[in-house]
Amino acid sequence: MIEVQRLMKRFGPKVVLRGLDFSAHAGEFVALLGPNGAGKTTFLRILASLSRPTAGVVRIGGYALPQEAAAVRRTLGVVSHQTLLYGDLTAEENLLFYARLYGIEHAGQRVKEVLELVGLERRRADLVRTFSRGMQQRLSIGRALLHDPQVLLLDEPYTGLDQDASAILDQILRTVAAQGRTILLTSHDLARAEDLATRFDVLSRGRIVASAGREALHHSGLLAFYRQALEAA
Ligand SMILES: Nc1ncnc2c1ncn2[C@@H]1O[C@H](COP(=O)(O)OP(=O)(O)OP(=O)(O)O)[C@@H](O)[C@H]1O
Ligand SMILES: [Mg+2]
Repeated sequence: MIEVQRLMKRFGPKVVLRGLDFSAHAGEFVALLGPNGAGKTTFLRILASLSRPTAGVVRIGGYALPQEAAAVRRTLGVVSHQTLLYGDLTAEENLLFYARLYGIEHAGQRVKEVLELVGLERRRADLVRTFSRGMQQRLSIGRALLHDPQVLLLDEPYTGLDQDASAILDQILRTVAAQGRTILLTSHDLARAEDLATRFDVLSRGRIVASAGREALHHSGLLAFYRQALEAA
């Protein structure tokens, strides 16, 4: 579903991704781990077609980036720190706006489903600028799921969420994963990642330096695997 070969990303003289290879097939839930500045956000932004690769091959759902960016955008949903929501519209109006943008049929019905999924149906008529950070985050997850994407990219989606909102996000991700979608999530919360993901990849110095399925972690646990990966890198 996601195929990346020899990906390079340079900002001026600074090389951030240096020949990164990565792949994820349908139904995999990959946690992308790595220290601050490792390049996780940079990698996700390239997959989301928000940033262009300097070199390398990137294919999502069979479509190549950057050439087929429009088709890639239809295939994926993105949750990042930018919520991409309009403060002066209500929750419902925001989702209706995006539903029309995506050309979703029966938009009203779909928006209702998504508001229920993220637990915001009772706040649907409130302006988004009156929402707390966690509520905005929930709505932004709803926006990302609106067009039923095959691939979901989430960059530190738990940041700023309280216990309840985190538990709701856990539940949403489990539901989405069980539907056979591909999920790629970055997080510094190893316990949460270990609980949710089926595979763990460690990004360091511009490459994936270690990768393990959840069965392989059975004895050592994710923290030990992560530390070893960074020491060996
Ligand atoms: N637009 C940019 N221009 C110049 N350098 C950039 C740009 N975006 C990212 N970088 C650099 O790329 C490197 C990787 O940053 P990135 O945000 O991808 O890291 P990260 O793994 O997401 O870190 P964190 O865990 O802190 O979120 C950093 O050294 C950062 O300074
Ligand atoms: Mg980041």
